[in-house]
Amino acid sequence: MSSRSIDSVDAVLALAREDIRGLKAYEHAQWRPELERLHANELPWSPLSCTDGAPRHHYPEPQPAELVEAMAGYYGVAADQILVGRGSDEGIDLLTRAFCRAERDAVMVCPPTFGMYAVAATIQGAGVVSAPLLPNFQLDLPAICSALQGSAAAPIKLVWLCSPNNPTGNSLQRSDIEAVIDAVRGRAAVVVDEAYAEFSSEPSWILSLPKNPHLVVLRTLSKAHGLAGLRVGAVIGHRAIIQLLRKIIPPYALPTDTVRYAMIAMEAAALAVTRERVGLLSRERERLRSALSSSPWLTRIWPSAANFLLVESRDGRAVLERLAGVGLIVRDFRGKSGLGEAIRITVGTPDQNDRIIRSLS
Ligand SMILES: Cc1ncc(COP(=O)(O)O)c(C=O)c1O
Repeated sequence: MSSRSIDSVDAVLALAREDIRGLKAYEHAQWRPELERLHANELPWSPLSCTDGAPRHHYPEPQPAELVEAMAGYYGVAADQILVGRGSDEGIDLLTRAFCRAERDAVMVCPPTFGMYAVAATIQGAGVVSAPLLPNFQLDLPAICSALQGSAAAPIKLVWLCSPNNPTGNSLQRSDIEAVIDAVRGRAAVVVDEAYAEFSSEPSWILSLPKNPHLVVLRTLSKAHGLAGLRVGAVIGHRAIIQLLRKIIPPYALPTDTVRYAMIAMEAAALAVTRERVGLLSRERERLRSALSSSPWLTRIWPSAANFLLVESRDGRAVLERLAGVGLIVRDFRGKSGLGEAIRITVGTPDQNDRIIRSLS
C-alpha cells in the first residue's frame, strides 16, 4: 500500500467520531466451538419449539467467519474488508453513528432516493443536506459542490449515493459518481448503496475501493438473493473503516438461522438459481415496460436497472385502485421528494406482471 493511500485512510478515519475511534468494543463471550459453553449464561438445552438440533439456545458467532468468508468471496474482497449485518439498513445505521456527531455533523442525500439515509441521520441527531437529482434523475454536480462548500457549520461526513437508485430505478452516471468521490476526498466518505446491483449490467463500485479509501459500498442479500426476511447485508470498504464499524455493531447481531440460510445462499447451486431469477426478472421488467408504454393510464415509464419500475400517471389514485382490484399493492410515491403522480411497481412473477398489464391496458 502506498504512503498516499495510508494517509488517505488516516484522513477518512479522522472524519469518524473521535469517541468511537477511541471506544473499547464490548468483549463478547469467546467463540470456542471445541469447548462446552458455560461462559455466556445460556440455557444448556434447546427450546422445546426447536426439534432440528440447531443450537438456538446458544448465542451465535459474532461476525460468523464462514459467512464472512463466503460473502467476501462472492463480492471479490478480503474478509477484513466486509462487515455482515442485519440488512444494509444496519450498515446505514452503523455508518451514520460512526461518522456523525449529534447536532454537529451532517449527511448529504440526493432525493428522490432511499429514505433510510435521512432517517438514520435524523435519529442520530445529524443534519441532512439535500442536493436533489436533476429532472433526468442524475446527480446535480454543481448543487452537490455548492452544498459541500456551504457546510462549514455542520460538516458533511457522509455522502449517500444509490445506484441503481431507489425509487427512480436508474444507475447514476459513473463519471458523476467519480467526480463526487474526487470532490469530497479528505472531507467526507462516499457510500454507494448497490442494493439492486445484481439487476444492473454496470460494474460494481467495489472495484474502485483500492484507490479510494473513503469509498464504502453497501450490498444486500434482500433483493436478488431473496433473503429479505432473514436480514443480511454487507458494508464493504477499507479494513480500517470495517474495524471501526465492528466496534459498534451489537455483538450477536446475526441470528443463528439467518447465518445458516445465508451460507446456503452463497453456495454455487443457490447462486446459479439467483442468476436465473435475476435474468427472468430483468426480462420481465423490460416486457412490463414495453407493454405499459401504451397504457392509457400512464404518462411515463422510467427506464430501470433494478427490479422495479417507476411510473407516472395523470391519476395515481386510479392506478393504485385498479391494481388493488387485481389483488396487487404497489408503492405510492405521489408527491414524495419532488415526484409527481409517481408509483413504484416491483417486477413480480410473469403471472403478476400479466395482471398489471391487463389492469392498466
Ligand atoms: C436502496 C436500498 N438500500 C437499502 C435497502 C435496505 O435493504 P436491506 O433489506 O438490506 O436492509 C433498501 C430496501 O428497500 C433499498 O432499496
